[in-house]
Amino acid sequence: MSRFIAIAALVLATGATAAPIPAQHRTHLSAGARRGLAFAQQRCAACHAVTENRTSPNPESPSFEDITNRPGVTRFTLRQFLRDSHNYPAAMNFRVEAARIRDLADYIVTMKKAGYRPVM
Ligand code: HEC
Repeated sequence: MSRFIAIAALVLATGATAAPIPAQHRTHLSAGARRGLAFAQQRCAACHAVTENRTSPNPESPSFEDITNRPGVTRFTLRQFLRDSHNYPAAMNFRVEAARIRDLADYIVTMKKAGYRPVM
């Protein structure tokens, strides 16, 4: 019952304000992409903008939206990059577990769009 009320309140609140839907609530994301987003928010967001229309907290770090809209970037190239930590820029002094790489790539490619222009 209380769950029903919470959902009803959420529906009313989002309907009433027409606020943009936070990325983590976007229902069109696959389960993997949603895990990728959650992981990116924990592990990447200190440097990178991990959702759309944002500039990165660390200006040296391209936003994930910029990265995914570069020519030639695909789910496959993202996985390849993340699998080999020797590719990483010096700032990214860590490894990403194999299980997370697929989720991250699945999430990042959801921000591809035709006619993309970087946020200035
Ligand atoms: C401490 C800061 C920092 C963190 C945390 C970080 N990055 Fe980065 N990342 C950078 C910087 C800086 C660059 C750009 C380097 C350059 O262009 O020379 C970059 C570049 C990238 C690129 C583009 C590489 C290319 O081909 O140009 C990808 C993809 C990427 N990061 C993914 C991630 C993911 C996924 C995470 C989280 C698991 C993450 N980063 C966390 C600093 C960071």
